[in-house]
Amino acid sequence: MSPGQTHYADQIECVDSELEQVVEVAKDTFRIRVPAPGIAARTLPGQFVMIRLSGRDAPLIGRALAVWDIIEDADGKPHAIDLVFVRKGALTTPLSQASVGTGVSLWGPLGNGFSAEPCDLLMIAAGGVGQTPMLLLGQDALGLRAFGPAAGGPTTGCRASGWAGSVRLIYGARTAALLAGVDQFSAAGMDVRLCTDDGSAGRPGYVPDHLFADLDEERREHPSSRIRVVTCGPEIMMRKVAEGCAERGIPCEVSMETPMACGIGICFSCVAMVRDGEGTPWDYKRTCVEGPIFEGSRIVW
Ligand SMILES: Cc1cc2nc3c(=O)[nH]c(=O)nc-3n(C[C@H](O)[C@H](O)[C@H](O)COP(=O)(O)OP(=O)(O)OC[C@H]3O[C@@H](n4cnc5c(N)ncnc54)[C@H](O)[C@@H]3O)c2cc1C
Ligand code: FES
Repeated sequence: MSPGQTHYADQIECVDSELEQVVEVAKDTFRIRVPAPGIAARTLPGQFVMIRLSGRDAPLIGRALAVWDIIEDADGKPHAIDLVFVRKGALTTPLSQASVGTGVSLWGPLGNGFSAEPCDLLMIAAGGVGQTPMLLLGQDALGLRAFGPAAGGPTTGCRASGWAGSVRLIYGARTAALLAGVDQFSAAGMDVRLCTDDGSAGRPGYVPDHLFADLDEERREHPSSRIRVVTCGPEIMMRKVAEGCAERGIPCEVSMETPMACGIGICFSCVAMVRDGEGTPWDYKRTCVEGPIFEGSRIVW
């Protein structure tokens, strides 16, 4: 499935569930586990859910969270989804304080997901909480596990996993205490290269600078290597990554995080300016259904 292709409508499930785990995984960063077998069986890397706290009027509107991991039951069947979020405002503050058993409503999986174009090296550029869609992506690219129909989900079609020779994650945060999930990325077989703005972990400096230093070196050493880049994080970071890839002729997918209200294509609160092709005029696209993954060269930043 290529980015921008709609993949939802009849496959969305609305679930009332109860939190099975709430764990602080880094400074101000939490992981929750939500039993939702139908959503877990359908989710593809890069897709997200909308979530609300049950029985609360505020916030009235759900919030989008990328699916971080899919948890299987004792029989190996998809059982729950894990979500990772940073404590910020109206939803994430009470969610970070919620206890096991707290009721939540969620609907998903939503959005299109990353494409599975074969490559020799997948380079992932993640900044801050933009790392959340990347665990499933790395597992998929390296063939560790199958997602969606290949995992026994009820959708039609099949997604082959194991489409990248290797996966390198360039993951940056403001400071070391904010880095989350590093062990899980490494356990999935990804080559993890950290950086922090203040130099407290990994290389000092910003994700795009380290991405392109690595990428240019890789191209010098292996000129015929097919490299793809995907990115998620602050908009300024994604813009630099997308523009640097366009200059070098490297395919790049970006995961847009525009604010969303419905998540299902009705309200148009989430639009981004996107071209149909390079050089063509732009139009507004709903990132909840036509995204959140787009080819970087098509975004009007
Ligand atoms: C596709 C997609 C996937 C996403 N995935 C994730 C994910 O995996 N993890 C994650 O953490 N987030 C993710 N997000 C972002 C997430 O949807 C929320 O926007 C975010 O968690 C904040 O929600 P909130 O209700 O806690 O904050 P809100 O209350 O909505 O606040 C949002 C921002 O506005 C600021 N703000 C709030 N009130 C005020 C005010 N009165 N004046 C000034 N500023 C204010 C807050 O400080 C905060 O920076 C994703 C977004 C999208 C679109
Ligand atoms: S969030 Fe409503 S149309 Fe995208």
